[in-house]
Amino acid sequence: MNSIPALDPENSRAVIDPQSYANWDSLLDRFDAIRSQSPVVRVNGVEDVHRPFWLVTGYDEVMQVSKDNATYLNNPQTVVFSLNEGIAFAKAMTGGSEHMVASLVTFDAPIHMQYRKLTQEWFMPKNLKTIESEIRAIANRAVDRMLDAGPDIDFVKQVSGPYPLHVVMQILGVPEADEPRMMMLTQQMFGGQDEDLNQSGMAAMTPEQITQLVAGAVKDFEAYFAGITADKRANPTTDVASTIANSMVDGEPLNDRDMMGYYIILAAAGHDTTSASTAGAMLALAQDPEQFAQVKADRTMLAGIVEEAIRWTSPVQHFMRTVATDTQLGGQDLKQGDWLMINYVAANHDPAQFDDPRRFDAGRSPNRHLAFGAGAHQCLGLHLARLEMRILFEVLLDRIETVELVGNAPRAKSTFVGGLKSLPLRISAA
Ligand code: HEM
Repeated sequence: MNSIPALDPENSRAVIDPQSYANWDSLLDRFDAIRSQSPVVRVNGVEDVHRPFWLVTGYDEVMQVSKDNATYLNNPQTVVFSLNEGIAFAKAMTGGSEHMVASLVTFDAPIHMQYRKLTQEWFMPKNLKTIESEIRAIANRAVDRMLDAGPDIDFVKQVSGPYPLHVVMQILGVPEADEPRMMMLTQQMFGGQDEDLNQSGMAAMTPEQITQLVAGAVKDFEAYFAGITADKRANPTTDVASTIANSMVDGEPLNDRDMMGYYIILAAAGHDTTSASTAGAMLALAQDPEQFAQVKADRTMLAGIVEEAIRWTSPVQHFMRTVATDTQLGGQDLKQGDWLMINYVAANHDPAQFDDPRRFDAGRSPNRHLAFGAGAHQCLGLHLARLEMRILFEVLLDRIETVELVGNAPRAKSTFVGGLKSLPLRISAA
């Protein structure tokens, strides 16, 4: 096995610096350079911030790690933005777990599948068909608001931000009046790293204060969903909250921590991600009027546009895995306990897998991107995300005649979930 030196300090800082993810082109340049050196490289630890890890940038290697859930575990730590200090706090709060919230992404086999199975059917296309008309109504309301505010609008603020949040709140049985509170709580829990997006004042706080704030948000969220659970047990419905509230594992109802973890992962995983890919699809159409006209006339192009937007934006930028037994990956020797960053942005821009990866190509085929991950943890909501996007664009293409980009579209500073934080457009109604 060849062993190459650790990644240089500048690149090492950059891969965990939220700011680098706001500078998309230079980030992609950086990943290209790192990947061509080696698809798996060592990043040294930084005292009091994070321990050393392997950065995986090659498509094949990210696929290999994602699919081998016995060698690469989600536990104990699934993302890199948690500071060492935050981990110590979580351990104290939970009696030993590094995760403030226990959820599907923090479980490994065999528990993971037991919990995933509880809602897997609910997220399948067959069941989602039953909520299509509700989603279409939410999409129409979003487009109504946009047209009222037009012709000059911020697509992120008017449409791609609120729309997936409304959908996810609808499936969790949260009334629209409580959505702002939920939005604030999920932002506080999942640490928006961009000061323009995070309205909770986190940017000015010390890590200790942030950790306290997160703990408070988890408690508030738990209190809120305790009410939803009681209601869904007394009056079961067909939404996913009802499925969770009435689920059994080993003959017992879920305990409070596990149930809350389920609600939290759905609330958190289901909105910023789909917002980012939706905004990306709109940017691509606004930048290419010919393509906009084509898809307006031929809706069979829509599925390709949705899939390419998800690859092109790669809203979930990384997850972490821990090595269960000594192994080899991408020419490197990995030891039990080693930590890995699987970087979906880098994998989805690997030229060995995708021709001209920075180009938005609605006809890309095959388009086996990794934006939803792969293997046992592959995104549970992927059919819902695609459906939401398809329905929104069907509505938009029916109801707008032209779209024009009228300013810069800056990206959020975030190492974990990222995308455009504003998209200034001029639209005309059909
Ligand atoms: C997991 C991406 C939308 C729920 C994941 C993972 C990724 C991802 C990369 C981890 C996969 C892995 O470890 O292999 C995305 C993207 C979305 C999206 C790019 C939108 C374009 C949604 C939606 C929901 C959702 C709408 C549900 C409301 C989940 C859940 C998991 C997950 C529950 C954990 C699955 C598990 O660990 O078994 N998603 N997601 N996601 N996603 Fe999504």
